[in-house]
Amino acid sequence: MLDKDSTRGLWTSKIGFIFAAAGSAIGLGNIWRFPYVTGENGGAAFVMIYIFFILVIGLPIMISELTIGRNTRKNPYGAFRKLKPGGYWKLAGGLGVMTGTLILSFYTVIAGFTIGYFFLILSGKFSGIHGVSQSGEIFARFSANPFNTIGLSVLFIVITSVIVINGVSKGIEKWSKIFMPVLVVLLILLVFRSVTLKGSLKGLEFYLKPNFDNLSVSTFIQALGQALFSLSLGGGGMMTYGSYLSRKEKLVSSAGYIAAFDTMIAILAGLIIFPALFAMGGDPEGGPGLIFVTLPSLIIKMPGGILFGASIFLLLTLAALTTTISLLEIPVAYFVDERGWSRKKATLLAASIILLLAIPSALSLGASGWLSKLPFFGIGFMDFIVIVFANYALVIGAFLIAVFVGYSWGIKPALHEIELYGNNFRLKRVWTLLVKYVCPVAILAILGYMLVTGNYF
Ligand code: PHE
Repeated sequence: MLDKDSTRGLWTSKIGFIFAAAGSAIGLGNIWRFPYVTGENGGAAFVMIYIFFILVIGLPIMISELTIGRNTRKNPYGAFRKLKPGGYWKLAGGLGVMTGTLILSFYTVIAGFTIGYFFLILSGKFSGIHGVSQSGEIFARFSANPFNTIGLSVLFIVITSVIVINGVSKGIEKWSKIFMPVLVVLLILLVFRSVTLKGSLKGLEFYLKPNFDNLSVSTFIQALGQALFSLSLGGGGMMTYGSYLSRKEKLVSSAGYIAAFDTMIAILAGLIIFPALFAMGGDPEGGPGLIFVTLPSLIIKMPGGILFGASIFLLLTLAALTTTISLLEIPVAYFVDERGWSRKKATLLAASIILLLAIPSALSLGASGWLSKLPFFGIGFMDFIVIVFANYALVIGAFLIAVFVGYSWGIKPALHEIELYGNNFRLKRVWTLLVKYVCPVAILAILGYMLVTGNYF
């Protein structure tokens, strides 16, 4: 029962764990994706639905994942197998390990872009350009060049591996405690700069004015998908981090801090992007290209534009790095637990597999070649991985976790784990209700709708 069972490593402090887990949650999903999804989906109206999903689905699932992880002290595959030996449930854990690994394989490509853009902006590449079409050309050339796409992914994986190889407390926790405060300070400075620009108010209005007219079923899919992705749920990430959590720790309040931290950063990220965009006369419907195309072409024109632009990409790099660390840790924990490998061997092998998987994603971004238009599916390799793993597998994973805790492993043993050391879980009845009924039904409804309509987030 005590923590002597953990030779795998443990977080050394509550704040260390919260920084690491919030570091996992806060990533490209918050700073790159959340602002444009919000912009496209009705501003504050979307934010409200999003927060609702964080509370009724995200938080209960996060508590479930952390509880399974801490109880078993295992990677997702080992965790399910330990709790239900012999059955099929271990496959749910296996799916989690696979999902985390494959998410990392495309995530690292975009993460690599953020480093590339940091240097591109500093080098003055955007300084002389006129308009979005020229920055679109720069992006097209940049993303079609394999030296950039593969090379920068390798660089990102190498940095991630160096941190992960050093272990849970001496690697992940130590660096999260450095990166996260830097990230928060940088973010606040950028928000301040952006909202004080002349003409920024229009951006604030676009971003936050509730627009209920555009709400549709797809808005709900977007909000749920974004909530799961942003909180690193459904792919084994939080389960793995939970496996290093001390049994004395108040797991529920930690989950609350992580979710609050994550949501706050996502909302603040929009306060950097939209005010600056509108102040410089940009088009908010930039979609995924918002950060790499629209933003650089406009930002560069403002006073101190190089500094402002480079800082945004530094922010993205830091946010992505604390996330790739957590994603790499999923297969690493699997190899360490299930194969008995050393952390070094596990990290090197996991990183190599991920790199091999990242190459087709990286190459699929160029304009030509079969990887950018897969036979039969008609979409690029990276889009395919995003849809299968960051969409369907993530949602299925979250569904399985709710069903597992609600019906298979059981609410009672889960609550026992949560309430160890006299940690009273005041909202346990609400949580039980959410995990047993609300989460499975809501997630299944959305999954069904996604499958029937071919819609995804
Ligand atoms: N939460 C991360 C982000 O927002 C992505 C992620 C998803 C990480 C699933 C781990 C597991 O960028």
